[in-house]
Amino acid sequence: MKKIIITIDGYSSCGKSTLAKALAAQLNYVFIDSGAMYRAITLYFLRNHVDWNKPKEVVKALGNITLEFIYSQETDISEIHLNDENVEWLIRDMVVAENVSGVASVKEVREFAVAQQQKMGDTKGIVMDGRDIGTTVFPNAELKIFLTADPAVRVERRFKELIQKNPHITIEEIKSNLETRDYIDSHREFSPLRKAHDAVVLDNSNLTMKEQLKIALKLVKERLEVEEEIA
Ligand code: CDP
Repeated sequence: MKKIIITIDGYSSCGKSTLAKALAAQLNYVFIDSGAMYRAITLYFLRNHVDWNKPKEVVKALGNITLEFIYSQETDISEIHLNDENVEWLIRDMVVAENVSGVASVKEVREFAVAQQQKMGDTKGIVMDGRDIGTTVFPNAELKIFLTADPAVRVERRFKELIQKNPHITIEEIKSNLETRDYIDSHREFSPLRKAHDAVVLDNSNLTMKEQLKIALKLVKERLEVEEEIA
């Protein structure tokens, strides 16, 4: 059967990665969390005191970064490795979340990440989630989903996720981080977060995982039928 490219974009904590992962598992596609790449680059910059406001420093640092997604049987996802170190867990840290949107606004950083993301789509059969996947990375993707959810629902979801790792985290801290990131992500100069004109909007505020997966699979089926007709 023909394989397609599926993009899932949207604001922070809408459940993009959860839906993308479930969709990829159902279809036997590869799931790529593009946000993990920006988070890993941010971790490297923080550890190595790279000033991301200085383009020369950024270019030099990017030359020393290798990012790789390696499948883990334990978690059943492709986990991100930064220069051969598995950082999948470390990149979820609040200090990374506080700086990632600044790093992701830098032109050189975006070019570095987008080039690698586009390569991953060469063989199709991929579900990638992020902010600019349907607009910049794969503007010709066969299926584009723009996921949304009520802001309060998003804060609650992220709180439940992060409290397990950090018992001191507060709702206020998370709310402020999501609001700040969403603002920077949608107002930056290069590849801002916005809905692609041909994306399908899916609001999952009141949907269970099963319900949203069903809707997404129906959309995939429709797109695959179109592809078969064209072939
Ligand atoms: O999980 P959550 O939605 O909170 O964020 P993420 O997907 O891990 O992305 C972290 C950050 O990376 C975002 O807030 C953006 O600043 C940046 N990002 C981006 O600029 N472009 C993408 N395609 C994906 C993420």
